Amino acid sequence: MHKGHSAAVLTGLGAWLPPRVVGNDEIAQRLDTSDEWIRTRTGIRERRIADPDTSTVDMAVHAGGNALRSAGSDVVDALVLATSTADQLCPASAPQVASGLGLSGIAAFDVNAVCTGFVYALATGAGLIAGGIADRVLVIGSDVFSRLCDPADRGTMPIFGDGAGAVVLRRGLPDEPGALGPFDLHSEGDRAELLTVPAGGAKQREAADPHDYFVTMQGQAIFRHACARMAESARAVLERTGLEIGDVDRFVAHQANIRILQATAKQLGLPGDRVVANIGRVGNTSAASIPLALADACEDRSLQPGHRVLLTAFGAGLTWGSTLLTWPDVKPG
Ligand code: UT7
Repeated sequence: MHKGHSAAVLTGLGAWLPPRVVGNDEIAQRLDTSDEWIRTRTGIRERRIADPDTSTVDMAVHAGGNALRSAGSDVVDALVLATSTADQLCPASAPQVASGLGLSGIAAFDVNAVCTGFVYALATGAGLIAGGIADRVLVIGSDVFSRLCDPADRGTMPIFGDGAGAVVLRRGLPDEPGALGPFDLHSEGDRAELLTVPAGGAKQREAADPHDYFVTMQGQAIFRHACARMAESARAVLERTGLEIGDVDRFVAHQANIRILQATAKQLGLPGDRVVANIGRVGNTSAASIPLALADACEDRSLQPGHRVLLTAFGAGLTWGSTLLTWPDVKPG
């Protein structure tokens, strides 16, 4: 390994969505809601839902394989999996993903920062490269968040969808296209109750109330924190690089609600045409959200090599964070 060059450079991108499309009307047949409410309050038209036999590991293997194909090489020394829906409470899912990709033997572990997971996992992968621990890292975000939603809860069921996305990072130069950084990462555990699955973890294995096995979310409070923290964090990475908001060509934020994306862009003074939004077709896919948005923006050509891209996310924990890169000549595999 060469420790002289410390930047982690994005060199491959992959996405995978379960084939089953669930439109708003299907949700409205089961819950007291409507296509009109979901579309106008969230921007979501449809989402993908994994069939019962498809797990976080399965989706991660698909997306990871696509990212390796995009990178043109399946050589990596480490795999970081961002997920809050690991197949089991123990062990982590990443080693099974590595084995599924034929990469048994490499370092592999999970990072759980819920919807901020992908940004945290990117920072972890960049850190492995900067520390001389790895030369090439596969970073995957994969979540079957629909499994955590109470089928009777109209507050969460219409919002979340399933999917996976991945990137390959390689050791490179800080001024190359694709070089990641700086990073801005934060958490606030005092507000964990705003979005939580109360039971089923190691602290409370069994719940008296079966609803406690599902996610509960205080939507309005999460909405406010998401806008404020993502704007704050976006400004922090720009300040560290001496850039201004006008220098950002594409804003790729965690896709939680179209109104959160619009409000955050407004707080930042960012024109709406620089905001990447694919929430309409995938919903909130938690840790998969940012790489899925990148892949869709590449496919529809709204993301081009040379664009300066600001990534920012907010999620349960609470957690939030951002980073920057100039888009390299990379297409989804
Ligand atoms: O990934 C990070 C974590 N998640 C998020 O970032 C999500 C953040 N929060 C949100 O996106 C929004 O708060 C929601 C989409 C969850 C809810 O939208 P909202 O505009 O904040 O709605 P609300 O909770 O203020 O409710 C407004 C009204 C209420 O009726 P009343 O009291 O005004 O009569 C709700 O009962 O809408 C009602 N309502 C619904 N109506 C139809 C709430 N959910 C639904 C629904 N369908 N699904």
